[in-house]
Amino acid sequence: MIPFTLVLALTTFTQATVNVIHYPPKSTNLNNLTFVLNGTGAPGIFNSSITPASLPYSTTYNWCNMPHVRTTEYVTPSEEYTLKYIEVIQRHHKRTPYNTNTFFIEDITWDCTGEGPVVYGKGPVGITSDPTVVQWAAYTNPNNPWTDSVGPGFVGSNCAFPQITTGGINDSYNHGSDLRSVYASRLGISTTLSPSTFQIRVTNNVITSQVAGGLLRALFPDTNDVAALIQSDTYDSLEPVYNCPNANSLFTEYTTDSANWTLHLTDALGLYEQLDNVSGIPLDDTAGWHTSFDHYYDNLSAKQCHSKPLPCSVNDTTICVTQDEADEVYRLGNYEYSFYYRDAEESTQYSALHYGAWVLELTAHLMDVVQGKSEVKYFHNVAHDGSIAPLLGFMQISEMVWPGMGSEVIYELYEKSSSASSSDSSTSNFFLRVLWNGQPMETSLPLGTNSSGVLDMIPVEDFFDYVNTTIGTGSELFSACNN
Ligand SMILES: *[C@@H]1O[C@H](CO)[C@@H](O)[C@H](O)[C@H]1NC(C)=O
Ligand SMILES: *[C@@H]1O[C@H](CO)[C@@H](O)[C@H](O)[C@H]1NC(C)=O
Ligand SMILES: *[C@@H]1O[C@H](CO)[C@@H](O)[C@H](O)[C@H]1NC(C)=O
Ligand SMILES: *[C@@H]1O[C@H](CO)[C@@H](O)[C@H](O)[C@H]1NC(C)=O
Ligand SMILES: *[C@@H]1O[C@H](CO)[C@@H](O)[C@H](O)[C@H]1NC(C)=O
Ligand SMILES: *[C@@H]1O[C@H](CO)[C@@H](O)[C@H](O)[C@H]1NC(C)=O
Ligand SMILES: *[C@@H]1O[C@H](CO)[C@@H](O)[C@H](O)[C@H]1NC(C)=O
Ligand SMILES: *[C@@H]1O[C@H](CO)[C@@H](O)[C@H](O)[C@H]1NC(C)=O
Ligand SMILES: *[C@@H]1O[C@H](CO)[C@@H](O)[C@H](O)[C@H]1NC(C)=O
Ligand SMILES: *[C@@H]1O[C@H](CO)[C@@H](O)[C@H](O)[C@H]1NC(C)=O
Repeated sequence: MIPFTLVLALTTFTQATVNVIHYPPKSTNLNNLTFVLNGTGAPGIFNSSITPASLPYSTTYNWCNMPHVRTTEYVTPSEEYTLKYIEVIQRHHKRTPYNTNTFFIEDITWDCTGEGPVVYGKGPVGITSDPTVVQWAAYTNPNNPWTDSVGPGFVGSNCAFPQITTGGINDSYNHGSDLRSVYASRLGISTTLSPSTFQIRVTNNVITSQVAGGLLRALFPDTNDVAALIQSDTYDSLEPVYNCPNANSLFTEYTTDSANWTLHLTDALGLYEQLDNVSGIPLDDTAGWHTSFDHYYDNLSAKQCHSKPLPCSVNDTTICVTQDEADEVYRLGNYEYSFYYRDAEESTQYSALHYGAWVLELTAHLMDVVQGKSEVKYFHNVAHDGSIAPLLGFMQISEMVWPGMGSEVIYELYEKSSSASSSDSSTSNFFLRVLWNGQPMETSLPLGTNSSGVLDMIPVEDFFDYVNTTIGTGSELFSACNN
């Protein structure tokens, strides 16, 4: 039965936004609870940034370093299409866990000597002397009696939780290098960054700037100073952090308050007991360890992506997390993301509200190019899983996963030579190809050739229409969030 509050909420949304239709995702092992709980194996690679050459690159999920565009797999469209603009949005690369995801007592330490984040101020080029590079070195001092209050897990580690690790900086650099090898010639981008044709945007979480540093070194090898765009942390659309109470209450209704969601948590109580035995997390924990698998997933996968062993209990070193248990956590984590952003019927509405502001900015960028109002050829956003996931939800991707480290969506805008295009004056000659894992994105939307859902050279107006019907204008989105 649908709770009364949900009926009310849906009525409100229906009035405020025009026409959100949820097209369900494909049924796969990822969103099959029987397989998630009773199947075996990890749903991809969780222990290395390198996908072995024996596996297909684009279709192999690698949590540590997701597939992105590379020269090897890139498909060049036919000659009648000219690439005019790309907008890239990616998740940051691999990192230490967040402090909220560290066990209270940790038997595995993290050494960040010499790889801390660089944080310093500087004046404009040529005005002040170049400052000395200042790097943060996280440390604890037992004379500070509050040190243990956040958990003795930090003792013995000298990293910020989170920070991008050396491996993650390396992956960022490789990612920039691959983007450069595909797009530099196609877009006419030189080795020096020109702000009139290229822009980069980060979030208020410094790990996105840590990634930008590695990425830009390879993208623009001859540029040393870059201004990254950043919105206020009260309304940033990229992370996103803008206030949308109706999105939040909708999300709570179909997760916390829904038996469809809580089912997998009760079914996994046995697994929880084993994990808690190692971590010491109490069953009545209120820090989120038992409301989803997010924390265990992050804690275990961060270790494995950095070739660290799975943890053991600090009280009894014979009780350790097994690989089978970790694999089940990884299956559950992907199941949860599929539920949050695709399987739940309200998830499309949620994504449209929660990520609509960024989509409106993207749409305006595309329109500016179509209307010849912008010289920007390439806009690059460095963001989070919490950014990519609702974007994939909004795009109604056919197979939803938890977007891993470095996962990437690219909007490629092409102009078709006019001799080959239709005479229909209601459409431009501009076409959109959307890439996920470096390949045209497969969605459940009735778009693309024969409504196949593959976003490969769809008239850009089809995308504009979809945005218009699901999100509407900025003021419509604002009122859908708040009324
Ligand atoms: C998993 O297998 C067990 C034992 O065979 C069974 O009782 C349970 O119903 C299965 N779980 C699901 C979700 O199918
Ligand atoms: C779900 O997975 C189980 C176990 O592998 C399988 O028997 C079942 O057919 C699957 N269900 C669907 C709808 O694919
Ligand atoms: C990573 O895990 C796979 C199995 O999931 C295993 O075959 C492989 O040897 C592991 N690689 C490393 C570097 O530990
Ligand atoms: C992971 O959990 C363990 C609990 O065994 C805890 O000690 C550790 O701090 C956590 N580590 C990270 C990096 O999350
Ligand atoms: C950096 O990336 C390259 C290419 O994937 C890899 O061969 C190398 O081992 C990586 N180095 C580190 C420190 O991660
Ligand atoms: C649970 O899922 C079923 C089938 O997907 C759906 O019909 C039902 O409305 C959902 N219930 C809630 C409370 O979301
Ligand atoms: C957890 O630890 C307790 C005490 O060490 C033990 O009795 C119990 O069997 C363990 N449970 C699991 C699921 O391993
Ligand atoms: C280890 O033992 C201490 C003292 O009994 C207890 O407080 C803590 O929860 C235990 N930790 C784990 C991971 O079981
Ligand atoms: C798609 O539609 C075209 C006609 O518009 C047809 O020629 C083609 O066979 C169709 N392709 C598929 C895969 O159905
Ligand atoms: C958006 O849709 C509304 C109503 O469906 C329509 O009146 C309006 O022209 C559309 N706006 C754009 C920019 O397409």
